[in-house]
Amino acid sequence: MIYNSPRGTEDYFGEEIRYRDFLAEVSKKLFKIFNYSEIITPHFEHTEVFSRGIGENSEIVQKEMFTFFDKKNRSLTLRPEGTASVVRAIVENKLYSENLPLKLFYIGSMFRYERPQKGRMREFCQIGVESAGSDSPAIDTEVIWLLYELFRKLGFKNLTLYINNIGCPECRVEYVKMLEGQLLPVKDRLCDDCNARLGKNTLRVFDCKVKTCREVLKDVVKISDNLCKKCLKHFNEVVSLLDVLGIDYIHNKNLVRGFDYYTRTIFEIISSDIDSAQNALGGGGRYDNLIKEFGGPELSSVGFAIGLERTILLMRQLGIKVPDSGVSSDKTYIINMDPSCGRYVFEIMGYLRNHGICCDINFNIKSVGKEIKLAQDKGYDNVIIIGEDEYRKKSIKIKKLKNYSQEEFDWESEKEKILNFLGSME
Ligand code: HAM
Repeated sequence: MIYNSPRGTEDYFGEEIRYRDFLAEVSKKLFKIFNYSEIITPHFEHTEVFSRGIGENSEIVQKEMFTFFDKKNRSLTLRPEGTASVVRAIVENKLYSENLPLKLFYIGSMFRYERPQKGRMREFCQIGVESAGSDSPAIDTEVIWLLYELFRKLGFKNLTLYINNIGCPECRVEYVKMLEGQLLPVKDRLCDDCNARLGKNTLRVFDCKVKTCREVLKDVVKISDNLCKKCLKHFNEVVSLLDVLGIDYIHNKNLVRGFDYYTRTIFEIISSDIDSAQNALGGGGRYDNLIKEFGGPELSSVGFAIGLERTILLMRQLGIKVPDSGVSSDKTYIINMDPSCGRYVFEIMGYLRNHGICCDINFNIKSVGKEIKLAQDKGYDNVIIIGEDEYRKKSIKIKKLKNYSQEEFDWESEKEKILNFLGSME
C-alpha cells in the first residue's frame, strides 16, 4: 500500500528546511528587536473562537474550516489563522494586566480547506504578530514597518505595500448602505458569488476577480472617501508616519480583507514578481473590538501574518539565497578501521561536533576503499581515517576529497589547526 500526503499538504526536507529555519530565525530576531515576545497557542480551538472571531459570513468560516467533533461531541476546528486564537489566549490568561500594549508573535501551522494550487495549501505556516492595547495610529505604522522590515531583511526588493482604511462600525454601516444602494440596481451584472455577498458581507465584493464585477466596482463609492472624521485622522497619521520612515505604499481604495474583525487600517504586501492570484505574501490590520467581543476589556489591537511557504517560493524563484546555519558547510567522515579505537573516535567526534564541524562515522566497519567511495558518494569534503597506528600515536590523518591532499596532525597539541583544516566556522 502506498500512501500519499493529504491534498494540499507537503513534506518538507533538504534545502526547504534551510529556508524555513532562516525565515523563522530572521523573524524571531527582528520581533525581539521590536520588543515582541512569543506566544504558542493550540493548533485547534472550540469552533466558536473562529466562527465568532472571523465572522459567520466570511468565506473562511463558511467554506474553509477543518471542523470535527471530538469523542464528547464537542465541535473543534483546526486554526485557519492565528489572530482569533491569540485573542482567546489574551482574554483567558488575562495577559492584559501586563504593560500595554502587549506585543506578541507566533509561528505555526494554519489549516484552510481551499482549492490547492502553487502557494495555496491546506496546511501552511504563518509568522505573525499581534499588538493589543493601543488605539494610537503610531502602532499601526510600527506593525506595518515591522512587516516591511522583515521582507527587506529577507532580501526582497520589489514589493508593493497596499494600505486602506475600512472605517469603524459607525461609518462603515452608513457606507455599506450606500454601496448596496448602488449595487442592487446593477446586480444582474454581478457574479453569483457577489450576489450572495450582497447584504451579508457586501464589502467583500471588492475582492472579486471576475471582470464584469470589477467593471461595476470601478464606479461605485469607496469606503475611504466616506470615513468619519476620527477614522480619516487615524489614516492620515498612519501614512504620515510611514512617510517619516521612508516606507513606500499605495493607497488601494479597493483593498478589503476577508475577516469581519477589521476596523480602520488594513494592509497587504504583494509581490509584483509573482504572476498569480497568490501574490499576497502577508497582510493584516487593526481590530478594535475583538478582545471585548471575547469577554475581555476594550483593547484596540493590530497585527499581521505572512505566509511562510509563499515567501520561500518567491525567494527561490528570485534566486535569494539563505546563508549557512552556523554549522560548517564542509562535512567530515571519520572512518574507524578498528573496533578497539571506538573510544578514541568518539573523543574526536565529540570535540569536532562541539566546535560546529558537521561529522559522522562509519558505524559498520568495511574496507577503507569502500568507505572512501561511500564518503565521496554522500558528498563529504574530508575523511579522517583512524586505525591502530593513529590510535597508538594519538594522531589523525585528514584527507581532502576534492584534491586528495592529506595532512597528519597530533591530536593532543594541534586541535586548532585541525579545526581550521576541516573548515570550522568559528
Ligand atoms: P491572511 O491574509 O488570511 O491574514 O493570511 C496571511 C498570509 O498567510 C497571506 O498573505 C498568505 O501569505 C498566507 N496564506 C493564507 N492562506 C494561505 C494558504 N491557503 N496557503 C498558503 N499561504 C496562505 C490572516 O490570517 C490574519 N490573521 C492576519 C492578521 C493578523 N490580521 C491581524 N493580525
